[in-house]
Amino acid sequence: MQPTPATSNRLLDACNRRTVDRPPVWVMRQAGRYLPEYREVRKRAGDFLTLCRTPELAAEVTLQPVRRFGVDAAIVFSDILTPLVPMGADLTFSPAPHISNPVRSVEDAERLAVPRPWHGTEFLDQTLARVRSELDPSVALIGFCGAPWTLATYLIEGTTSRSFTKVKGFALQQPEAFALLLDRIADGMASYLHSQVEHGAQVVQIFDSWVGALGAADARRWALAPARRLLEKTADLGVPRIYFANGGSHLLSDLSSMPCEVIGLDWRCDLAAAADALPGHALQGNLDPGLLMGPVEVIRKRTLEMLRNAPRAGYIANLGHGITPDVPVSHMGAFVRTVQEFSHA
Ligand code: CP3
Repeated sequence: MQPTPATSNRLLDACNRRTVDRPPVWVMRQAGRYLPEYREVRKRAGDFLTLCRTPELAAEVTLQPVRRFGVDAAIVFSDILTPLVPMGADLTFSPAPHISNPVRSVEDAERLAVPRPWHGTEFLDQTLARVRSELDPSVALIGFCGAPWTLATYLIEGTTSRSFTKVKGFALQQPEAFALLLDRIADGMASYLHSQVEHGAQVVQIFDSWVGALGAADARRWALAPARRLLEKTADLGVPRIYFANGGSHLLSDLSSMPCEVIGLDWRCDLAAAADALPGHALQGNLDPGLLMGPVEVIRKRTLEMLRNAPRAGYIANLGHGITPDVPVSHMGAFVRTVQEFSHA
């Protein structure tokens, strides 16, 4: 376990709802294709999974946005789907993910391995250690995993889905097998997050990217309940946990009882209303990533509006979802700088 840095760390302070001089800022998918230096390393690695599995290169791309923009956190470079490989998935990227042995039966769900203690992604341990050794103590290192519902969509659909009919069909026709699958994923990801914290992650984020595919009742049953199981099994981690429920603005009152320190918000919800609905949590978000396509003056204006709407303590500035590959680098810079120059009047 890494020693806690003596220097102050804005991101950790905000997660713990301590007062900060200004909100910390980082961006989901901040290491990615909008950056020319990422595309260069990605080309050198050849394949996306090779990049994830080569600690030297994965550490390099993790650090790129910290060097270029001075963001307050690095998120370790990998993918939410890479830990499904040691659980038994046959995964490739082209660039969309493909799982050639999707889960279609109770036997398939039973075959999924839950390594305890976690093993099978040793490359990530090495990436975390390398990044931590190069990061200034004032910059936090974020580990992450996918939430059970989101990972179940990939395991059952075999790729990114638009309609989610296979996963919904499975949940409705084989409810016991689906419950077993969600439990296995939650237990596997709890073990995986423990391993990341042992190797240097100081905060973890759980990505529930596809909550918005579900109505409120099904989201409670199929997304929030298994995410809660994962959170309960990581209560002893000793680091702040961010639960990001993309498309979950219809669930704010349910999110208020999630046993985690931070709720990540997508851009559809009003930040001030979310702060009222979630008094017990720190909040993260939530500028529409599409606004980074706008001219710099508009990006500045809309970012300032977001910051003025945000709570003073317990707030992390971010986009409401991942940055897209077509965003000009200078526009990302304008977003980050606006937060860095902000101070509460
Ligand atoms: O900078 C960071 O945020 C760290 C790295 C990171 C990646 N993926 C790298 C990546 C993180 C945190 C993720 C999470 C992830 N991966 C999510 C949850 C976040 C979200 O957007 O909701 C999801 C759903 C995935 C699954 C995934 N990975 C898809 C659907 C794709 C292909 C589509 C696409 O964006 O091209 C990926 C590939 C992927 N993961 C890339 C990167 C940089 C692009 C691959 C490439 O370089 O060719």
